[in-house]
Amino acid sequence: MTDLTTPMKLGALTLANRMAMAPMTRNRAPATIPTPLMLEYYQQRACAGVIITEGAQISEQAVGYPATPGIYTDEQVDGWRSITDAVHTKGGAIFVQLWHCGRVSHPDFHGGELPVAPSAIRPAGQAFTYEGLKDFVTPRELALGELPGIIEKYRHAAACAIAAGFDGVEIHAANGYLLDQFLRDGSNNRTDIYGGSIENRTRLLLEVTAAVCNEIGAERVGVRISPVNGFNDMHDSDPQALFNHVATALSVLKPAYLHVVEVSMTGDADSAVDMQQIRSRFAGCYIANGGYDKARGNAVLATEAADMVAYGVPFLANPDLPERFRQDAALNTADQASFYGGDASGYTDYPFLHAVS
Ligand code: PHB
Repeated sequence: MTDLTTPMKLGALTLANRMAMAPMTRNRAPATIPTPLMLEYYQQRACAGVIITEGAQISEQAVGYPATPGIYTDEQVDGWRSITDAVHTKGGAIFVQLWHCGRVSHPDFHGGELPVAPSAIRPAGQAFTYEGLKDFVTPRELALGELPGIIEKYRHAAACAIAAGFDGVEIHAANGYLLDQFLRDGSNNRTDIYGGSIENRTRLLLEVTAAVCNEIGAERVGVRISPVNGFNDMHDSDPQALFNHVATALSVLKPAYLHVVEVSMTGDADSAVDMQQIRSRFAGCYIANGGYDKARGNAVLATEAADMVAYGVPFLANPDLPERFRQDAALNTADQASFYGGDASGYTDYPFLHAVS
């Protein structure tokens, strides 16, 4: 019977197990360029079936947090190259997450200019800036004529990812960032062909996915969605219908996987969504994410409700998570205070079960 330790095919890759490391923002790239400390962190976790990196912004416009890495300049590509080499040397696989924060940003990151979004709708909450928390602002609505340029940035970032040695990319369409802002009607009230109907709100994600698949091959592409996540003040009037359509339409483009955040990070979901309706509409690999432990991970694979399970915080705190699950060993406790920013503390100093070379 399939369980978390069963190898699998993902696109052209053979993965050692079915435990993905979920993308996690760690804010340790001060100049947007990956560092040797980040190399150490990812290398330590190369035992994952596949690592999906923290979000990497696709352009200057895409940034929304301090010290997040980019994937659009030569220097960033060089920095990531050392990381992909190290992970591959350890036998691992690694995808980079392509990120545009949209309205979840602040003028401080854009020389005083407003962040951009599908519509001029201000999210409740605050942005993390270099000067601490500041209220979100009302973003500038993107003009229709700007959207081809954004699609081009995704294509360019995907090309940079391949140049950096990544096995593939994950298009971040979850958690209230730009592509999710287009998908859900709480953040998109456009009256052009990118707003209104579910088909129209899904259009930008499909065009981005098509451009990225065309650039690097669909078997190297994954997409992440979060149908019920209220994080970043996200709402939709009919998430089941929306995300059923997203899955159906994405499936035509044949990306390798659909990665679904099945929970709400804020606990205030709009309404329940049956994730199996989404899964049944998507032909590729379904990666389940959100609060899974070993038992629930094995159960969801055994019932074929998912093909793979992504672990976030458990992988952060346990670089050897697959080995700990195999042995039913105790898990390290994650230190929340060191999640975002800082140094090696709470990053590369979580103990292994066994000393590693
Ligand atoms: C975060 O910084 O809290 C964060 C970033 C990206 C996500 C989710 C959360 O997709």
